[in-house]
Amino acid sequence: MGQDALDYFLCNLGALFRMRRIYPPGAKQILQSAKQASQKLAAWGRPVRITFLGNDTIVEDRRIENIPISYSALFQSLQQLGFESIQIEPDAREDDLTLWIETVVAKERTPYRSLKIITGSLKLERKVTPSSVLTRAVTGYLGFLAEAQGVLSDLESKKPEGLVRAREVVCAIVARLAVGRELFEPIREMKNFDDYTFTHALNVCVLSSALARALRLPDEMVNAISMAALCHDLGKKEVPKEILNRNGPLEPHERLLMERHPFCGAQLLLDIPGVESANPLLPVVAYQHHMGANQSGYPKIQQRLPQHTLHFASLLVAVADVYDALRTVRPYRQALSVAKAATILIREALSGKLHKEYVSSFLLLLNVLAAGRRVVLSDGSSGIIVETHTGYPLCPMVGDEHGRIRDLSDPSSPTIWEIVEDSTDVLQ
Ligand SMILES: [Fe+2]
Repeated sequence: MGQDALDYFLCNLGALFRMRRIYPPGAKQILQSAKQASQKLAAWGRPVRITFLGNDTIVEDRRIENIPISYSALFQSLQQLGFESIQIEPDAREDDLTLWIETVVAKERTPYRSLKIITGSLKLERKVTPSSVLTRAVTGYLGFLAEAQGVLSDLESKKPEGLVRAREVVCAIVARLAVGRELFEPIREMKNFDDYTFTHALNVCVLSSALARALRLPDEMVNAISMAALCHDLGKKEVPKEILNRNGPLEPHERLLMERHPFCGAQLLLDIPGVESANPLLPVVAYQHHMGANQSGYPKIQQRLPQHTLHFASLLVAVADVYDALRTVRPYRQALSVAKAATILIREALSGKLHKEYVSSFLLLLNVLAAGRRVVLSDGSSGIIVETHTGYPLCPMVGDEHGRIRDLSDPSSPTIWEIVEDSTDVLQ
């Protein structure tokens, strides 16, 4: 069903709002408008996203220049209540729509959360008027990419306004992820843009943000981690391009230069006025993201720190960083499939380099270790996952070729050694 169904739905929703303002609850005019709105929503068949950004109103990916009179009063009320992001699921019924409209008519400012309708704020800083770029950014990956490029260029030049812009972009990304996976899915599939620096920064930001949310961290922490993820590789600015893009092994002195990027990144960030009050995680994650949970990475430090000394945000961002690097085409190798990248994450988790629980949660998020997936175990046998333990998918129940069910959470059991590719992993 085309655009018409969406337009009719918005008109019917506007009518429902008007009717409810005129008639008492349960009036037949209200029931009729709700029924029509629900039917048109079902005909549209996809979630409806409405975004208010500054003076812009965006429905799906379309900026509405002149809001039709049939729903302008409703949109005005939503804006007055401070809601900047609204998502209505396609299976919302008459009752769901009516209950929500009741709260709008009653001018309830609390964000509305139901299984079918989610409203919220993008929490954008008001110091900067949202630019048209940011408006576009709210509607898709490429918009965010353009904005990330601007933010990172500002920060590379140590401009403090880059911190405000970074926070805006991250808030918009987090808000977008809160209402759907559209931003996340293209990254899962694969990204192969020319400019690796910015796509990698944005991908690691989006993936870290999704992982932080999956770990149920508080909103402010999700934002802080996402911003740190966006800026984690700023120090690569100091690494010569020919070393970054070398099609072959690095000489020892070149490797040393490459391995200085966490230090350079932290130093660059600390030089930006106000960075520590804006987000103290920025230099920490930039410095620690290659250190590894077992501190086998770099920068090398003379004496190992007690494990808890590494910030958990650095360990979380490291999982997203390794995954995205493996999934992206580089001058020296092809992108790996989801299954191969997941296999490497598992091995790095088992070796202690990556944080085991974060890798577990990340693979759950990617839906890699789901029932039905074929795996090879460390004893050379293979089997099919029949069930994953919640929150601990690295040790699922696996059925082998003899019909036996093995519980890999048993310490005497083998571990997963390889995820076998299936049809969903084929690279685009
Ligand atoms: Fe890095």
